[in-house]
Amino acid sequence: MAKRIDVSGLSAYYGSHKAIDDISMTVEPRSVTAFIGPSGCGKSTFLRTLNRMHEVTPGGRVEGKVMLDDENLYGSGVDPVAVRRTVGMVFQRPNPFPTMSIFDNVAAGLRLNGSYKKSELKDIVERSLKGANLWNEVKDRLNKPGSGLSGGQQQRLCIARAIAVEPQVLLMDEPCSALDPISTLAIEDLIGELKERFTIVIVTHNMQQAARVSDRTAFFNLAAVGQPGKLVEIDETERIFSNPSVQATEDYISGRFG
Ligand SMILES: Nc1ncnc2c1ncn2[C@@H]1O[C@H](COP(=O)(O)OP(=O)(O)OP(=O)(O)O)[C@@H](O)[C@H]1O
Ligand SMILES: [Mg+2]
Repeated sequence: MAKRIDVSGLSAYYGSHKAIDDISMTVEPRSVTAFIGPSGCGKSTFLRTLNRMHEVTPGGRVEGKVMLDDENLYGSGVDPVAVRRTVGMVFQRPNPFPTMSIFDNVAAGLRLNGSYKKSELKDIVERSLKGANLWNEVKDRLNKPGSGLSGGQQQRLCIARAIAVEPQVLLMDEPCSALDPISTLAIEDLIGELKERFTIVIVTHNMQQAARVSDRTAFFNLAAVGQPGKLVEIDETERIFSNPSVQATEDYISGRFG
């Protein structure tokens, strides 16, 4: 079931470059948290520290703690692969496995993680595609390649793939930035449904999107070029967009920035 995230004192590096500095925040289960802030302030980097993807980058290093309920994801003996199963991720560009069928794309994570009977697999794939609001559009062509879908459909396919393994947290890095407005709304509606079951963190450059989909919003910023990104404030989305505590947040959301 969806779990609470509690980050404390988190910094991340690329080699000797510190990209984000000393971030602490909590994310409540079954909620949507939006990350906003100017390009280069470390939103994607921070997101990737939440499922131990950051360390996959050569030179990638993390200091601090990420608790998922009562487990420190950076504790000794924690398997990063298991973490990535628990904390799933959807990327900016839809990235279905191009040579695989729609069915196999959704089943891919399950096949890696264990052995399922054919009928079980069929049920989970159907449930996941329904969960991603894609089932009706693809149910008659499950054996066709995933790459034959539209961009918006491919992104929903990637969401189906991510939720098929029943993660507790879903991280999304600008999941709509490559999509048209209709597909974007479809994904936003879907996020509203998914938060009933998952804890969702989404990075977006679209202020209206942050306001529409999220319960809480975190604003990140850079003190100066070359400095690490910092969390400026996190609060109820309504408050961030109406009456933020910090002037820099106000300037950013009202477009009076830099
Ligand atoms: N693979 C990498 N190697 C070295 N430095 C990197 C790498 N990826 C990101 N950085 C640096 O880390 C900092 C934060 O980058 P990050 O991509 O997290 O920012 P962002 O807020 O997601 O930006 P955007 O809004 O443009 O996506 C930047 O200074 C960036 O140049
Ligand atoms: Mg980014």
